Amino acid sequence: MQDPILLTGGTGFIGAHTATALASAKLPFVILDNLSNSSAKVLDRLARLNASPLAFVNADVRDAQALDAVFARFKFSGVIHFAGLKAVGESVAQPLRYFDNNVNGTLQLLQAMQRAGVKKIVFSSSATVYGDPASVPIREDAALSATNPYGRSKLLCEDMLRELARVDNSWKIALLRYFNPVGAHESGLLGESPHGVPNNLMPFMTQVAMGQREHLQIFGNDYDTPDGTGMRDYLHVMDLAQGHLAALQALDAPKLLTVNLGTGQGVSVKQMVDTFARVTGVPIAHRFVARRPGDIAQCWADPTLAQQLLGWKAQLGLDRMCADAWRWQSMNPQGFDTSL
Ligand code: NAD
Ligand code: UD1
Repeated sequence: MQDPILLTGGTGFIGAHTATALASAKLPFVILDNLSNSSAKVLDRLARLNASPLAFVNADVRDAQALDAVFARFKFSGVIHFAGLKAVGESVAQPLRYFDNNVNGTLQLLQAMQRAGVKKIVFSSSATVYGDPASVPIREDAALSATNPYGRSKLLCEDMLRELARVDNSWKIALLRYFNPVGAHESGLLGESPHGVPNNLMPFMTQVAMGQREHLQIFGNDYDTPDGTGMRDYLHVMDLAQGHLAALQALDAPKLLTVNLGTGQGVSVKQMVDTFARVTGVPIAHRFVARRPGDIAQCWADPTLAQQLLGWKAQLGLDRMCADAWRWQSMNPQGFDTSL
């Protein structure tokens, strides 16, 4: 058997979907997660999908002892580092918590990896590192900036990893800048399960479709976009999961890879609402309200480099994203809070 991969944050939304992709590729893995934003029920679902980890470690990435213990127990071929906090508004209210969890967490992990001699890491970065982009589609060499503490925490981690790669040529590092992951596993057993009121468009929309929320507020219809609503690059979470496998494979020698993972297609909020209604047959009650502070008009990837360097290209379209998100929400009205 191949040496396993360590997934930090592996019971979260993107980590769990990536776990199924690893299992399908017969790649063994271990999950380390402190369950601060996920449920242990994910492990039952992974088992039902024949995608169980070799072990689940309930620990924090900032806990050096716990990290040393897991690195002593397994000989890892590499790490995919999903663990992090991701709510922009919360990061504005609690910036130091975000720096501690995301930046200190990444530093602790890198130090433990160094101690164990494991020097291959795939890092979950975000299109948020482009701030308010000067133009779209966005290439990886576009200017970087942060507009909130969450974005700053991702940039600081990227800086740390870039500098590490520059001064120590034994590391294999991939910085994956995700655009807007949505959708769910096609089984309906895994999906996004936000606590409280969802911040993001797709989970809010599926809750409106369920009748759990009265209507969707569309934040702004006066943007400089064809229909006035904000435009984003939504990608299916299973495509994103495949991007991690491709990155692991591309890290065959010490190097630093920095790539966008997106479809390259800008989709407006209005288009998303219309597509969801057409695909599922469930209309989304909505109202246009003022812009959300901090939002940008448009953000989508130039995904050329991902294809060149990783051989990766998104395969699943908007219809599949809506259909799979809806299946997940219909089968799990309360997310992981209730069982099937
Ligand atoms: P998620 O919250 O569903 O998953 C993150 C997981 O990390 C959770 O299971 C949480 O319990 C765990 N975690 C958090 N802090 C931890 C710590 N200190 N120690 C151990 N475990 C910890 O989020 P996700 O959507 O799956 O995102 C995964 C990664 O991708 C995050 O780093 C996020 O910032 C990044 N990202 C997400 C998006 C998105 O839209 N979902 C976009 C760009 C980047
Ligand atoms: C948000 C984060 C970003 C993070 C990304 C993925 C902010 C300001 N940015 O980006 O840092 O990387 O999530 O996790 O929070 N919308 C509505 N009504 C809603 C929700 C959203 O109209 O109830 C609109 C937004 O204005 C936007 C689009 O839908 O135009 C997508 O929003 P969202 O899903 O929150 O993602 P981002 O804003 O791209």
